[in-house]
Amino acid sequence: MSERSRALPRRSCFSTPGSNERFLEKAPTVPADMSFLDLEDSVAPLEKEAARAKVVEAVRKHPWDDRVLCVRVNAWDSEWTYGDVIEVVGEAGERLDEVMLPKVQSAAEVVALDLLLSQVEKRSGLPLNHIGIEAQIETTRGLINVDEICAASPRLETIIFGPADFAASMEMPVLTGGVQIPEYPGDHFNYVFSRILMAGRANGLQVIDGPYLKVKDMDGLRQFAQRTRILGYDGKWALTPDQVTVCNEVYSPTQEQFDRAWDILDAYDKATQHERKGAVMFGDEMIDEASRKMANKFVARGERAGLRRSAG
Ligand code: GLV
Ligand code: MG
Repeated sequence: MSERSRALPRRSCFSTPGSNERFLEKAPTVPADMSFLDLEDSVAPLEKEAARAKVVEAVRKHPWDDRVLCVRVNAWDSEWTYGDVIEVVGEAGERLDEVMLPKVQSAAEVVALDLLLSQVEKRSGLPLNHIGIEAQIETTRGLINVDEICAASPRLETIIFGPADFAASMEMPVLTGGVQIPEYPGDHFNYVFSRILMAGRANGLQVIDGPYLKVKDMDGLRQFAQRTRILGYDGKWALTPDQVTVCNEVYSPTQEQFDRAWDILDAYDKATQHERKGAVMFGDEMIDEASRKMANKFVARGERAGLRRSAG
């Protein structure tokens, strides 16, 4: 749905607490691909209801350029979800692209949000199916059901891993979410990352890594983000403007990779179309149809990140 935002880049997904007017005003000046205004865990329970109007005002009044704009509502196990959707989606207007649903445990939770959104869209005069959904996987049950969750609604645009809540749900003995555990020989989340990535890709979704909570450690973030970048993730959450800069860099192909991908496509096109060959040498390596697919992904990702092929 929400055709505007579905294919836009999400290298950096910038979180802003919906209760803080000063942060809400600053958020559009931070060069993130996607901004989400949070009503969930960064907002205190006593501020939850008052934050809705602040978020509506921020969506309507601030200059959001063409980035993806999203509101994270509270999870279905709270008392706030329906009120968040009715008030925020009902009053924010067409600039709001999507709603993020946290702690998704089953496909039914996505379907329930989809149905509620349809009613709110009708009532408030929004185009039908205007609002997309981003779903967070951050519980063990959510991970077990991730295939059905990713296929639950055509409104779904992304699936996101939430490492802090997930570590709590697994009862991992950690106190900082989303960071390396030096005592563990390997990557304690590798299975989880791969599982979510496969389910997301199988359903045509963008796949996003969650927050890195050591917000002053840029080298640590850069290193840690490489793991999901290399697996194939589209982007990662950012909690500060400096984290946005790092994420934009890590989740973009380099100019060299982008140019090489174009060269592979040209060489392969020449081989198949003019020489009627399915496998040819490209420098010192063999390329074939699978190489074309890999190169195509780099080109698409690079173009989404604003890269242009170098001259010559
Ligand atoms: C994000 O919501 C997380 O729990 O990591
Ligand atoms: Mg969470």
